[in-house]
Amino acid sequence: MLNPRRLSRPLQLFAGLCVALFVVPAGAQTGPVATDQRVMQIVDSRCILCHGRDGESASAVYPRLAAQHPDYLRKQLQDFRDGRRKSDTMSEMVKDLKDEEFAGLAAWFSTRKPAFRQTTDADLAAVGKYLFTRGNTYSGVPPCASCHGPDGHGTHQLPRLAGQHPTYLEVQLKEFGKRERSNDNAVMHSVASKLTELETRAVSVYIGGLQ
Ligand code: HEC
Ligand code: HEC
Repeated sequence: MLNPRRLSRPLQLFAGLCVALFVVPAGAQTGPVATDQRVMQIVDSRCILCHGRDGESASAVYPRLAAQHPDYLRKQLQDFRDGRRKSDTMSEMVKDLKDEEFAGLAAWFSTRKPAFRQTTDADLAAVGKYLFTRGNTYSGVPPCASCHGPDGHGTHQLPRLAGQHPTYLEVQLKEFGKRERSNDNAVMHSVASKLTELETRAVSVYIGGLQ
């Protein structure tokens, strides 16, 4: 049997590579992609300020974008622009950008290599690991790994979590819990609304140390 999770990653890397080499735009799946020059102009004049040129955000409140799945990135950028995902900061950043520019930005950031970070609190990370891999059967929290994968690498429909800033993760989980993350929140609302403060912190710390 074909396993789509196994297939999707190499295919995405291939699509990203094509864009980077200007051989073929990753057009088959994503539609038109803006030229690299235009994309790098946008990265260097805007995104770099908060997310870094290579998607390694310097501050924990800005999500890391390196190695995030291109379809997810593109969708989030469209949702920020179109007001489906509410964020004044991000909506302002992308309000004048077109879908083909989003495809180019997604191709750039998804093909950056993520840096490795170690967790600082091993005890807390151990609690987080339990929740991530086993869930909490007492409160009905499913294992995060069942959807996001055993290493938190996600799939092309599901975001990569591995190595994300714990502070950003915590904020997103709390927002999902209250449905304040306004786009596509149904699944994650049912997960996050059952998490305690300790579980939210612990699972975020654990995920932040995944490679
Ligand atoms: C002034 C700081 C700032 C700048 C500049 C900025 N961003 Fe963001 N970005 C944020 C913040 C804050 C969030 C988190 C929004 C939220 O809480 O939902 C975010 C979220 C994102 C996300 C969602 C990530 C995820 O994991 O869901 C993407 C994608 C993104 N930004 C891409 C970009 C791109 C591409 C640019 C350049 C066009 C850019 N950002 C410029 C601050 C910034
Ligand atoms: C039943 C499947 C499922 C389970 C289980 C699940 N998630 Fe998710 N998660 C999703 C989906 C789907 C999305 C994408 C939502 C979107 O497209 O905006 C998501 C998105 C997220 C995001 C947003 C990522 C970003 O870059 O902004 C975080 C954080 C997250 N999940 C954390 C977790 C944690 C922690 C757990 C375990 C406690 C978990 N998820 C369990 C399906 C799941």
